[in-house]
Amino acid sequence: MVKSKQRKEFGDYQTPLPLAAAVCDLLARLGNAPAAVVEPTCGRGHLLLAALDRFPQATIAVGLDVDAGHLAGLRGTLADRATGRKVQLVHANFFATDWVGMLAELPEPLLVIGNPPWVTSAELGSLDSDNLPKKANFQRHIGLDAITGKSNFDISEWMLVRLMESLHGRSGTLAMLCKTAVARKLLFHAWKHDFLLGAAALYGIDAARHFGANVDACLLICDFRPGCRRKHARVFPGFDAKQPVLELGWRMERVVADVKAFDRWSHLAADGTDRSCVWRSGVKHDCAPVMELRAVGGRWYNKRGECLDLEPTYVFPLLKSSDVASGRTAAAAQGMIVTQSTVAAATEPIRLSAPKTWAYLLAHAPLLDGRRSSIYRKRPRFAVFGVGDYTFAPYKVAISGLYKKLRFEVVGSHEGKPVVFDDTVYFLACPSRREAERLARLLNSDPAREFYSAAIFWDAKRPVTIDVLKRLDLQKLAEHCGGVGHDAPSDDES
Ligand SMILES: C[S@@+](CC[C@H](N)C(=O)[O-])C[C@H]1O[C@@H](n2cnc3c(N)ncnc32)[C@H](O)[C@@H]1O
Repeated sequence: MVKSKQRKEFGDYQTPLPLAAAVCDLLARLGNAPAAVVEPTCGRGHLLLAALDRFPQATIAVGLDVDAGHLAGLRGTLADRATGRKVQLVHANFFATDWVGMLAELPEPLLVIGNPPWVTSAELGSLDSDNLPKKANFQRHIGLDAITGKSNFDISEWMLVRLMESLHGRSGTLAMLCKTAVARKLLFHAWKHDFLLGAAALYGIDAARHFGANVDACLLICDFRPGCRRKHARVFPGFDAKQPVLELGWRMERVVADVKAFDRWSHLAADGTDRSCVWRSGVKHDCAPVMELRAVGGRWYNKRGECLDLEPTYVFPLLKSSDVASGRTAAAAQGMIVTQSTVAAATEPIRLSAPKTWAYLLAHAPLLDGRRSSIYRKRPRFAVFGVGDYTFAPYKVAISGLYKKLRFEVVGSHEGKPVVFDDTVYFLACPSRREAERLARLLNSDPAREFYSAAIFWDAKRPVTIDVLKRLDLQKLAEHCGGVGHDAPSDDES
């Protein structure tokens, strides 16, 4: 157990030799001929060894790792090889290493190659590990993003940002095996900060086969060239692919998934001037066993199977992400207790206005009071998050953020009560069915679909985000679509 904890903590999954050789073959095919090779978390040094074989012109190679055992093993392997004399092994912690200083000593072109640990800061937290950089919130997430966990990051992201900063202004190549989501974050960082980058590419790898990891992963290759500021990256499905399947690019301060498609529809991009439609997310409560209910035979049950007797005041029909994604928006067999009408509203009045509901909340107070997220701290007892006028709008146009599906659904009220969503659903609040149908027609139109498809990364955990949704200007889309939305009011106009 200690061994497996340690393995997770240090992301200790060595690159198989055949994959290491294939990486170096690809780099050679792409024209790399480094004078110096560096492997920053080299472990047993499989990539370093493959690079020494593939790039005989390299005069020096440096391998660094925190694990003395791995380095001793590598030292033994190198002792049997003629190329071993070119190699310097450094037993050190990545986070305490002066990378700019180390690379400054080496001849160009450089090849910084590797496979940094794939563990996240949250996983390290649960392992009680301090294999972390000192300053954890390094991408400067502020406010709610920091509190709700956007500040969770991949250790490899932090390491690779440091390496990119150290290569800025130098001549060389960064070639790293990493999660595809991390590769995109690195491109975001590099393009946002105008790093001197030439060509960049992502080559898909089968992480399940090579590392037993169920995650999208790739070989990220970035060429650093003084004076060069290219901001696109070609995406290849595998090392043998000759043609890219997509080209990522930098548009409107974001990385987009398909730069050519995005450029076709760039006239629909939001510039921040249209404030008539605001995307919202559903209600966050972090206590499904208590706050989410199911209707059976005309009675409410909570997820613990308890049959409840509650006033209807605070119970709202609920649609979950899966309901929205599958278009099951009419039935509302589920409910949610929404204790506030705005995030600032007091909850104490529930005691008088709905005593049975208050008693129920009190009976489950240990669970509710024990919610760990700091968004509930210093807030009224039993508070929820993500509520406002929009939550109680009679009509909504909704999409699930979890599913790989671009379909917007009109959701009306249920038996006179507004339907609420869980916090993985995004929606626009609408005053009438007519408006909701107009917006849904626009959002489901071909131009909107193509626009969003160019911006969305379908391999992400939550491909559809508010950030992506708000990039489309609905006013401009309505103008582009001409007549869409000017239909006669429907029968059940509210
Ligand atoms: C995914 S393995 C890859 C090893 C090697 N680069 C390869 O491709 O086979 C990650 C390596 O990172 C090392 N590592 C983890 N945390 C480190 C740290 N803070 N400083 C230096 N090395 C570290 C581990 O010991 C492990 O060898």
